[in-house]
Amino acid sequence: MKLLKLLPASGDHLTPRETVAELDKYIVGQKDAKRSVAIALRNRWRRQQVPENLRDEIAPKNIIMIGPTGVGKTEIARRLAKLTASPFLKIEASKFTEVGYVGRDVESMVRDLMELAVAQVKAEERDKVQVKAEAAVEERLLDLLLPGSNPEPEGDGGNTREKLRTMLRAGRLEDRGVELEVSQRAAPVVEIFSAAGMEEMDFNFKDMLGNLFPGKTKQRKVKLAEAREYLLQEEAGRLIDMDRVVEEARRKVEQDGIIFLDEIDKIVGRDGTRGPDVSREGVQRDLLPIVEGTTVNSKYGMLRTDHILFIASGAFHLSKPSDLIPEMQGRFPIRVELHSLGPAEFERILTEPENALIKQYRALLNTEGIRLTFTPEAIKEIAGLATRVNDRTENIGARRLHTVMEKLLEEISFTAPDLGSQEITITDAYVRERLAALIDDEDLSRYIL
Ligand SMILES: Nc1ncnc2c1ncn2[C@@H]1O[C@H](COP(=O)(O)OP(=O)(O)OP(=O)(O)O)[C@@H](O)[C@H]1O
Ligand SMILES: [Mg+2]
Repeated sequence: MKLLKLLPASGDHLTPRETVAELDKYIVGQKDAKRSVAIALRNRWRRQQVPENLRDEIAPKNIIMIGPTGVGKTEIARRLAKLTASPFLKIEASKFTEVGYVGRDVESMVRDLMELAVAQVKAEERDKVQVKAEAAVEERLLDLLLPGSNPEPEGDGGNTREKLRTMLRAGRLEDRGVELEVSQRAAPVVEIFSAAGMEEMDFNFKDMLGNLFPGKTKQRKVKLAEAREYLLQEEAGRLIDMDRVVEEARRKVEQDGIIFLDEIDKIVGRDGTRGPDVSREGVQRDLLPIVEGTTVNSKYGMLRTDHILFIASGAFHLSKPSDLIPEMQGRFPIRVELHSLGPAEFERILTEPENALIKQYRALLNTEGIRLTFTPEAIKEIAGLATRVNDRTENIGARRLHTVMEKLLEEISFTAPDLGSQEITITDAYVRERLAALIDDEDLSRYIL
């Protein structure tokens, strides 16, 4: 567990080559896109090493990833987010054009990024004070178990206390009931207000309500294990300096923040073609100052956006990046193309990534006692059939593999619990038997695959 936590923290010191190697574990091909995002990530770190007067001058080199549907654009963003310790927000640009979002201001993405950073820093701080908090909680649990025993460790009470401590540490008191004083929340009052309404307020209404009813507590009888959880939260809250957390989160957002704008092509194109949608060019205009660098008001104070890195992505079927308003184009100097995928890539996607589909199905069916194997010819056949369906109906990229695999293994999936423990080998003949008829019938494959 601890090791896993350490890994992303060092993510920003990864060299571009190391970043690409990490992405390679999950995404097949798309070398250019991987290289571009890897360089962008490294540039964040480089800028931090530059003397301060120059540091402020270095603007992030925003990127647009262009490529057909289902070839790994969003997947690259998802993996990158896991790799970097920077606050990373992924958001669909199309969200801002939806009917329900009329008037929702684009600036909220910066506030969301800040919320993310605050949570991230808070979690880090909590880890740091964990040991201290745990020690304090142990004393408080002993107080609850044996009221009044604390002050005289030498006396009789002290002895009992130490015995209880031993039992507590051995986990033998977890189900013991204790009387815990919990603060009463004013939460129900808050829920009258809608979430959207809360966002517009630049002061924290919730906190204010909390302060209106301070110190209201009540006794509750709970199991010791539950009391420990509650007290840990409380102690950690006491030990963490929230002002410092906010300061550090602000630094992270302003210096290292990354916003991934997915589906940016959805805010390109002629206006008024989709009825009640918010004007797409309007969304671009709203977006522009944030990308160019502006100050956004949040409940944590003002946030500068000058150095936030934007990575945009879109299929650009019906439009081109040159259809973006000119000012916007200038703010995204780096363009990378992702390529459409063919049978060779499909074969690798089925087997190589750490989360490869075939590995997933094997693990799933293994829970039923079935050891599933695929012959290399079978994998070739699946990749070939998926490509054929993509060519003849609609090219949905690697997403096609999901539908094809599901159909291929439907019978085995359904009967698995009745089959008992056994080995099943999927051969190319089996693949053809299950799928060929479907694939030859264009109408059928359109609906089923
Ligand atoms: N190059 C690839 N290597 C491995 N898996 C891939 C690759 N491309 C796509 N996939 C898989 O296909 C699915 C869809 O990919 P993704 O969400 O990245 O598509 P996209 O390029 O963002 O498409 P869209 O334009 O429709 O949003 C995911 O499950 C992803 O894991
Ligand atoms: Mg996508």
